[in-house]
Amino acid sequence: MTTNTTMQKAARLSDLADNGMKRIEANGTPILLIRRGNAVHAYSADCPHAGAPLEQGALCNGRLVCPWHKGTFDIATGALVEPPALLPLTRYPVRVEHGDVLVDSMPEPSKTSAPTAADTRTFAIVGAGAAGAAACAALREAGFAGRIVLIDREPRTPYDRTVLSKFVPSGEMPVDEVPPLLPDDFFATHAIETIQADVTTLDAGARRIDIGSAPSIHYDAALVATGGIPKRLTLQGSEADNIKPRIRLLRNRDDARRLVDTAAQGEHALVLGASFVGLEVASALRERKLRVTVVSPGNVPFEKQFGPELGRLFMRLHEAHGVKVRMGRHARAVAPGDANGALRVTLDNGDTVSCDFIVAGVGVTPATDFLDGVTRNDDKSVNVDASMRVTNGLYAAGDIARFELQAPVSERVRIEHWRVAQQHARIAAHAMLGIPPKEPLVPYFWTYHFGKTFEYVGHAKHWDETKFTGTPDTFEFIALLGEKGKLVAAVGCNREKQTGMLVEALRKPLSLADAMKIAESA
Ligand SMILES: Cc1cc2nc3c(=O)[nH]c(=O)nc-3n(C[C@H](O)[C@H](O)[C@H](O)COP(=O)(O)OP(=O)(O)OC[C@H]3O[C@@H](n4cnc5c(N)ncnc54)[C@H](O)[C@@H]3O)c2cc1C
Ligand code: FES
Repeated sequence: MTTNTTMQKAARLSDLADNGMKRIEANGTPILLIRRGNAVHAYSADCPHAGAPLEQGALCNGRLVCPWHKGTFDIATGALVEPPALLPLTRYPVRVEHGDVLVDSMPEPSKTSAPTAADTRTFAIVGAGAAGAAACAALREAGFAGRIVLIDREPRTPYDRTVLSKFVPSGEMPVDEVPPLLPDDFFATHAIETIQADVTTLDAGARRIDIGSAPSIHYDAALVATGGIPKRLTLQGSEADNIKPRIRLLRNRDDARRLVDTAAQGEHALVLGASFVGLEVASALRERKLRVTVVSPGNVPFEKQFGPELGRLFMRLHEAHGVKVRMGRHARAVAPGDANGALRVTLDNGDTVSCDFIVAGVGVTPATDFLDGVTRNDDKSVNVDASMRVTNGLYAAGDIARFELQAPVSERVRIEHWRVAQQHARIAAHAMLGIPPKEPLVPYFWTYHFGKTFEYVGHAKHWDETKFTGTPDTFEFIALLGEKGKLVAAVGCNREKQTGMLVEALRKPLSLADAMKIAESA
């Protein structure tokens, strides 16, 4: 065998554990080597989603699971298996010679499936958020050569909405620097038309989308991924002209900009609703040294999702950082307060809280008012089948979709989380091309408070047993939530590799005992 001069020795094969990973540098390029038997694969070492060090992820089921948000890649090809990464890993030429692993720092050309024939179909995607972006990427990745039209009312989409409650209100990231979900030239390079417009009607029967005075778009298949609209407070006095501008909702970049401007002028924030967004904002506003009070019904935060013990952990974490948490209370009314211009909020027990502004974190309503010819549920969500189909030619994904979860429990659910929205989108995009789903979707989300990321794998509405490994008090643990001896969900902090293994293992029924072995693995 001749030696290619651009290949350089990166490691000895014996330096790599079988089924192990090692990060190396070749000509200054970080490369991940993965060994499987005598074969070695070489990929970009940083995750294409948000740059996580992939060598800290998990290898299982022939896949590499990113430590940070569980983007998943095929080990043999680098192909994308699960979001929130939307692109495959960059591959580098690699071979083993005389026990040396030789790598080229020039990447292999990227491969997209070649379209088989000219395609005259139009696929429309309404909503360029988490799911809309994932659908565009998945359609082109799967070789769709027809017309794709992506419509959103927001400018410069798609972007990472999840940072709006974390690094933006804390002041670490200016709103204009919120990262895009795909490279800037992606849409032009992949011939995807992007339209900034409000969709006023989607007529499912006529397969037509109306966007104000512009010509309607006629589609062969459409995906609706319009997300949620934050619910307004039903607080007496909250609609008054001198109060309404001081109540902040948070869904998009404009909301975040307004929140940051308001926070810059205030000293005391009142967060109504101990939701994920509400408590993340509480954490971020404490980082910028504001006084923060949280008022919410319930005993402890996230009790429904995590149980009372972990709920108390979140409460202690927030209180330890100076957040005043008042659980078991509803806000009833708001009125202008003292001469200094503070607001006075009255609670259901008659107590009052004085604050400069309010952040409402009380949930969202699915944004589906523009749908015509589609049955909607009472909460305005739409039902989809296993391929995310609503009706002929129409698919739905993300926060608006009520879908049949198959693993770890069978249940019709609506889940408002980033990775799930993008999983939906990939399933829908494939279904638009006639490709059925291969595996059950396992839900996952992350949430960030005071520098700590908490991860949740699975879906537990009920559970009869909680087993811990590690120590919650030091924020290094996994809690396994089980029902009838089977794992239904896991909550982890600082155990990213193990949660990566669990998210793959949960595609099949998993006993609590086997889940504990994974949770306790090195
Ligand atoms: C501040 C914040 C932080 C979050 N953090 C996390 C997190 O840490 N982890 C996590 O798992 N999840 C998080 N989530 C939840 C996650 O962002 C959502 O579940 C996800 O964005 C849903 O994706 P989607 O595609 O359904 O909707 P979206 O991402 O909301 O996208 C919908 C798009 O549709 C557009 N649109 C709506 N109606 C119309 C119309 N009529 N015409 C044109 N365009 C329209 C909107 O402008 C929007 O761009 C967070 C949510 C928020 C708001
Ligand atoms: S950084 Fe890898 S999935 Fe987010």
